[in-house]
Amino acid sequence: MLRENRVHQMYQEDNSVTSIVWEDRFSVGIALIDEQHKMLIQRLNDLSKAIEMNQSVREIVRVLGFLIEYTNFHFSIEEKHMIENDYPGLNHHRTQHEEFKTTLNHLTEDFEEEGATKALADSINVFLTNWLVTHFQEVDIEFGKFLIEKGLLLS
Ligand SMILES: [Fe+2]
Repeated sequence: MLRENRVHQMYQEDNSVTSIVWEDRFSVGIALIDEQHKMLIQRLNDLSKAIEMNQSVREIVRVLGFLIEYTNFHFSIEEKHMIENDYPGLNHHRTQHEEFKTTLNHLTEDFEEEGATKALADSINVFLTNWLVTHFQEVDIEFGKFLIEKGLLLS
């Protein structure tokens, strides 16, 4: 599920992930969606920071919870606009969202059960980053194109 070389993260000397920086190639051409994607990246960076700082399991789960909360909000907004605009890719897109939400919940459970191992925290972080960026660039971009073709900019 992980895709290599999709994301250029910044690495410290010990190879630990520190943050992901928004890049123009992530843009789907719709400001509202791009702004929410930037917020998702920010929350993901908050998670990275909590992991880097060796925060407690409780704290990392809390930060992960913020990310999950915003992810759910963002997915629901995207889907609302898909429904309102009769987007033909709705079902496929919604399935992707559902699978990701399920995976996020499983990861949180694993993390709570297995504890704050750095390896698990890092793999969660890398998985989330790769999934999100791939989703922006391969799935959300299609919805962006659809909206732009229809002249709908979701202001
Ligand atoms: Fe999406």
